[in-house]
Amino acid sequence: MTKTSSTKNKKNRNLSIDDVESWIEKENGIKGKTSSANFEITVFDDSTIRIQITRENSFSPNPYSVIKDPQKNNFKINKSKEQVWVKTSKIHLSVNLSPFYLTFHTPAGKIINQDDPSFSVSWLGTEVTNYKKVHKNEKFIGLGEKTGNLDRAGKAYTNWNTDYFAYGVGDDPLYMSIPFYLGIHNELCYGIFFDNTHKTVFNFGASNNRFVYYSAEDGDMDYYFFHDDSISKIISSYTELTGKMEMPPAWSLGFQQCRYSYYPESEVLNLSKTFRDKDMPADVIYLDIHHMEKYKVFTFDGIKFPDPKSLIKSLKEKGFRVVVIMDPGIKTDKGYLPYDEGLQKDLFVKFPDGDVYEGQVWPGWCAFPDFTKPETRKWWAEKMEFYFEAGVDGYWTDMNEPASWGQFTPNLIEFHYEGEEVSHRKARNIYGFQMARSAMEGSLLHRPEERPFVLTRSGFSGIQRYAAAWTGDNFASEEHMMAGIRLVNSLGLSGVAFSGYDVGGFAGEATKSLFARWMSIAAFSPLYRAHSMINSNDAEPWAFGEEVEEISRNYMKLRYKLLPTIYSSYYQSTFSGLPLAKSLAIDYPYDKKIYETAFQNQYIFCDRILVAPVESTKEITKVYLPEGDWYYLYDGTKHKGKQTVYQDCPLNYLPAYVKAGEILSLQSDISHTEETNDGILYLHLYHGNDKSVYIHYEDDGISHEYKNGAYFKREIEWNSKTGNLMFSKPEGKFETGYNKIKLYFHGIEVDSIKYGGKTIQHNLEDVSFLKKLTEFDPLPEHDHPFYEMEDVPCVVLDHILDLFTLQVN
Ligand code: NOJ
Repeated sequence: MTKTSSTKNKKNRNLSIDDVESWIEKENGIKGKTSSANFEITVFDDSTIRIQITRENSFSPNPYSVIKDPQKNNFKINKSKEQVWVKTSKIHLSVNLSPFYLTFHTPAGKIINQDDPSFSVSWLGTEVTNYKKVHKNEKFIGLGEKTGNLDRAGKAYTNWNTDYFAYGVGDDPLYMSIPFYLGIHNELCYGIFFDNTHKTVFNFGASNNRFVYYSAEDGDMDYYFFHDDSISKIISSYTELTGKMEMPPAWSLGFQQCRYSYYPESEVLNLSKTFRDKDMPADVIYLDIHHMEKYKVFTFDGIKFPDPKSLIKSLKEKGFRVVVIMDPGIKTDKGYLPYDEGLQKDLFVKFPDGDVYEGQVWPGWCAFPDFTKPETRKWWAEKMEFYFEAGVDGYWTDMNEPASWGQFTPNLIEFHYEGEEVSHRKARNIYGFQMARSAMEGSLLHRPEERPFVLTRSGFSGIQRYAAAWTGDNFASEEHMMAGIRLVNSLGLSGVAFSGYDVGGFAGEATKSLFARWMSIAAFSPLYRAHSMINSNDAEPWAFGEEVEEISRNYMKLRYKLLPTIYSSYYQSTFSGLPLAKSLAIDYPYDKKIYETAFQNQYIFCDRILVAPVESTKEITKVYLPEGDWYYLYDGTKHKGKQTVYQDCPLNYLPAYVKAGEILSLQSDISHTEETNDGILYLHLYHGNDKSVYIHYEDDGISHEYKNGAYFKREIEWNSKTGNLMFSKPEGKFETGYNKIKLYFHGIEVDSIKYGGKTIQHNLEDVSFLKKLTEFDPLPEHDHPFYEMEDVPCVVLDHILDLFTLQVN
């Protein structure tokens, strides 16, 4: 082994951590010293171990992201002359003593992950790096809002929250930093969360074939290592540490319409009316920066919006909620109360000499609230009373990287950082996260009985506790549409379950077909929101002609029909931390096919629908169906898994497949989430080889009462092999909204359906998931096959509110 200690004391050369001089046991782990650093190893639980290394006398941890403490744990410490071992039931970690380097093993002795023995943890000036050996064909996924391929091998990325208008599909960094990734090799997987808020770099083998590494400009080497037997479990462990989202308000899962900007109020009213007149379901209208007077936050423009309260009230009567934008920049106008108060209460970001830092944004020169200071967060939350007075329901925290014209904030400015007093270098990546937190706290302060909805552009690990995310200023192009799907899937791999992209593209002009396709794909996105740029053509779902309108309507309606499935899935996610849009790498990480360029955008929506996004220019596409059998959503055709199929994909049919053995739950058409449906829960059961359990979940969609038991939940167990369909006794105090259940059986020839020994009458029905396009001439370049379901056996039952079983033969 070549030691690197000879480089010690030589400026501008790598200084590695060197040999362990001493170590002792501590609560939940060990701690010790090398000749150049202090280290601590803490067992959080069986599958999570934290590594902290610093050259300072004490650690300076990030106070914002991790919300879990180490659990009491049965781990063992073994020692030999060369090594110390920390062993949990899932990870055996060896600490090599001379020199210091770590190897994470499975209990069976396979190496999961190992430091480069020579460099392990090293410093170059203040920059600290952890070098890791790479396994043959090792894959790297996650890292949050990052462009590029699903497998990040061979690429390097920077985490430095950046306002990037119309970014290219390979550009980096973007708005949000989540320094968490997953590694996959030899049928093993692990996760690493590098909890350092400075600018960090993750290099997955770019420009070298020796190692991968992650480094931070300054601060500690402070990372969490996760290992378990599935990617899902690792994401769950990561979200145990950094938090999970709470149930979002049901209205935020409907269609959301945004534009930079809708004004005056007559336009907003007209917009809401058009959705209803055109029978296009929608729930949310956004007010972008023109709702303000001179772009000053906590104001309404008196001419464009003379009576916001009445406007919002009448929108609510039509079933629309209003979300307003909040930018952090406070115009430096004497006499403008937020500015005066901020100065007087010392709430702004400052230069080291105490002068308030100013940067330019929409309102002109602005001061920036220091959201890393508790007093500022509280003040901002209190100021939000202004919007609650007007009846606003949701908040859109934009420009919170923070953005300013020139996009080059001086590093010397200072932030409170919960009392640590740090420079911009340490605080930037956390700023938007804490602004979103303040917005959420403001929502809870003024309307404690309702769930907050905050949509944020910037964030850091843990952002899922406060806000949903969107992927910023994308561009109206086919490749951007596909890149957005990967961004959302990657956010999902990194703990952010609720996210979306601007449907139609923020910058540029969508073609008719691009818009139609984007609307259909996004119907299967966790957040379903269309948005477009100032001075661009109209981009509402009816602005592209009759055909696009029809396709959009069909997919918007499908989204609303699917809401029982979607809502139940959100509920699951509040426990599991797993995303609604699951990259295939979550369930099929060891299947090489899923990483291929042609298939890497595919994902599983709500655990049961495989979505194969495809450009609008294609009429036929290749789809990879992983293990299991799959039913084409629109006509029930069954395909074997582990094969590539060629699927026609005219504009009105986005390739989507239901996993065999699963259940899809649907409701009747509604025009917004507060409208009552026909009281029938439509359950589609797909024949498969395994038993599956679907947890159907309902609550009031708005309050926190579900936390006190006001929910309706039952397991529906479908064993298609035996034909046994069991509904568990419902749990919870909430009354279900369904008085009937209609069951459809796909892929099974049904002779009889028995309940309590008695046969129930069943029928055959053609179930169209989408309306067929018949009312106009299709676009010349598109052909429209009319998919029809084979007649499917179905039966209607009263909603029995007790345990009951059906026997299907
Ligand atoms: C930038 C945001 O990314 C965009 O969505 C918004 O419309 C503009 N700011 C104007 O507020």
